Amino acid sequence: MLASSLSRTRDRLIALVVVGIVFVSLVAFVQINLDWDFRYLPNSIRPSQHDPAVYTRFGNALFEALEQSGPPIPPLKDVPYRDNSGLIFWKATNDTLRPDILHMESDAVLAMRQAHEDYIEATKDLQLPFRPRTSGIVSTAGGRYLPIFIISLRMLRRTGCHLPVELFLRNEEEHGAYLCDTLLPSLNARCVRLDDIVGAKATTISKFQVKIFSLLFTSFENALFLDADNFLLRDPKDIFKQQPFRSSGLVTWPDFWASSASKHFYEIINFPTPAMNERASSESGQLLVSKASHGKALMATAYYNFYGPEYFYQLLTQDGPGGGDKETFLAGAQAVGAPFYQVGHYVDTIGYYEDGHYHGVAMMQYDPIEDAAITRSGKEVAKRKPFSVHHNYPKYDTVELFSAEGAAIDHATGQGHRLLGNKTLTLERFNGRDVEYELWEEIEHVACVLGDKFRHWQVLPNTDERNGTCDSVKHYRATVFAADEIV
Ligand SMILES: *[C@@H]1O[C@H](CO)[C@@H](O)[C@H](O)[C@H]1NC(C)=O
Ligand SMILES: *[C@@H]1O[C@H](CO)[C@@H](O)[C@H](O)[C@H]1NC(C)=O
Ligand SMILES: *[C@@H]1O[C@H](CO)[C@@H](O)[C@H](O)[C@H]1NC(C)=O
Repeated sequence: MLASSLSRTRDRLIALVVVGIVFVSLVAFVQINLDWDFRYLPNSIRPSQHDPAVYTRFGNALFEALEQSGPPIPPLKDVPYRDNSGLIFWKATNDTLRPDILHMESDAVLAMRQAHEDYIEATKDLQLPFRPRTSGIVSTAGGRYLPIFIISLRMLRRTGCHLPVELFLRNEEEHGAYLCDTLLPSLNARCVRLDDIVGAKATTISKFQVKIFSLLFTSFENALFLDADNFLLRDPKDIFKQQPFRSSGLVTWPDFWASSASKHFYEIINFPTPAMNERASSESGQLLVSKASHGKALMATAYYNFYGPEYFYQLLTQDGPGGGDKETFLAGAQAVGAPFYQVGHYVDTIGYYEDGHYHGVAMMQYDPIEDAAITRSGKEVAKRKPFSVHHNYPKYDTVELFSAEGAAIDHATGQGHRLLGNKTLTLERFNGRDVEYELWEEIEHVACVLGDKFRHWQVLPNTDERNGTCDSVKHYRATVFAADEIV
């Protein structure tokens, strides 16, 4: 009796030890090999949690510095502009004259320079909060951009990318229970609310400004920012470990245009005015940044965005194309002497022909690792690796695409057509992948499966006269892509 009960106890102990060892090895294996991030487990089984108070303390200190060092001059937006004077296509060979439309008195420039210097001084000891050795993707979306973000995220997951994603929302109005509690966690993504971090100050941040604050508050040390309407063509996991990111800590991509920043901007940040052909202006639909190496640069960028609408967006673009935040990221690095790398290969346009006219719908950017290798070696390759498709105009908002003026429908014939060019061209461009076919599979999923799950979700129901959004997408796919297969 006693012997058998002892041996049962021993057996149980052995079994327990074995189970323990297996469990610990499994956790270690998952963490090491799959880069699993425990933040995305439910609260109850999460082993450790980063202290949210650290982010709030940092946010409060940053806002205090921002508010105390504002430009001490009247807003610049009252300056009269000429039309389109900043509209200069970028060319490496053409050192054009820098546009100079923003006439500022030297007193005003000096006053802004002093305020900028005070801000840099006030923030020099602030430490950006983040979880060391983490990498992930950051985005912002609200309202009608949410379905677009989900489509982009599903396209990203098709590349095999498992990196965690943080979606920044401003407040409760943008937060949705289904989105944040069910849908995003199923895609290894989570909602982060700015008002949870900085309280009512979140209401002072809008539009373009949300991007820089999402980077300041993301928990990732290494962040890849993606606009909601931008999807990647490959798993970006290795770009954080390689050049050009490894040694620069900030990687941007080019826009079509030359910079149209005012010389006064450089006077204010105390940086030599660059030649116009030094680099194209940047397009901030995608951006890589290390919070460890570029904390000061990001805080300078926050200043140009916080005071963007009234001062710095004017100084940085002077009525040129693409106003907003896009030029503020490199500017932040320049102001604090931090390194950066801008992809040298020029951005491409993707679009379709209708009635003999070309309509661009997206910007295609190229692989940064390959770009850096080519810059180093000087040896161009036959075909560059595509990196991202920033489908910026029009967005893949189905209601809009199928409207009377919608881009997906030929205006003369009423027939649907592809947006990213014909199939032959698409297969050639994306190395055998029919990316547009895949994109429409995701658009259909979002319109038909997720369509009724969101507030703000613009999905039209079927009526007697017309198909609703889901049936319109199905009909479009059946006609456009079936016809293509035959060609
Ligand atoms: C250089 O840029 C100017 C201003 O946009 C333009 O008028 C000129 O034709 C350009 N020159 C070349 C060689 O592209
Ligand atoms: C596809 O588009 C390319 C570029 O616009 C064009 O040269 C080619 O002829 C088109 N092919 C077909 C089959 O329409
Ligand atoms: C609606 O969908 C049906 C079947 O999917 C299709 O036959 C019809 O042409 C569509 N109508 C419109 C206006 O798209």
